[in-house]
Amino acid sequence: MPRSRKTYSAPLIQLRRSGVHGYGLFARDFVPQGERVIEYVGERITKAEAQRREDRRLARRAAGGDGCVYIFELNQRHDIDGDVAWNLARRINHSCGPNCETQNIRGHIWVVACRDIAPGEELTYDYGFSYTEWRDHPCRCGATECVGHIINSAQRWRARRRLAAGK
Ligand SMILES: C[S@@+](CC[C@H](N)C(=O)[O-])C[C@H]1O[C@@H](n2cnc3c(N)ncnc32)[C@H](O)[C@@H]1O
Ligand SMILES: [Zn+2]
Repeated sequence: MPRSRKTYSAPLIQLRRSGVHGYGLFARDFVPQGERVIEYVGERITKAEAQRREDRRLARRAAGGDGCVYIFELNQRHDIDGDVAWNLARRINHSCGPNCETQNIRGHIWVVACRDIAPGEELTYDYGFSYTEWRDHPCRCGATECVGHIINSAQRWRARRRLAAGK
């Protein structure tokens, strides 16, 4: 069962088209560093179910369909499938130089401002994708740290080295 069916009408944010990808969330107003912006909610599922859904997503993408990733790691046994209408946070795009981070606060995934955010800025966090899958996820964030693929910051140097070597 879903953990929450509440529709989030977060007053700090606005949904609109993004230059990065599809829709994105934008700050309506100044957001101070450390502010909890929105909770990432959805359906709580087991790792096995998450793997089944991920396999279906990859099959959809291979067939030319929507390949968006919405599954979020919650803990060692469970994930959150955020692909539900009441999860506005699913619209947040990735950036390699993000202004938000995600924090697991007592079993709830919160998107928290990791620096001050100016009105009108797009909210982003680092999706933290692993080294094994980086080539599958092109990145259009435009940050100076970006290597052109979505990959967690700790592994970015490895991807950069491979790209520089033409591999
Ligand atoms: C959870 S959705 C983000 C919201 C999405 N823009 C929308 O309109 O619903 C995640 C997907 O957005 C796309 N995306 C997010 N950040 C991106 C980025 N920096 N560059 C390219 N695509 C991105 C990828 O397709 C990713 O799987
Ligand atoms: Zn990037």
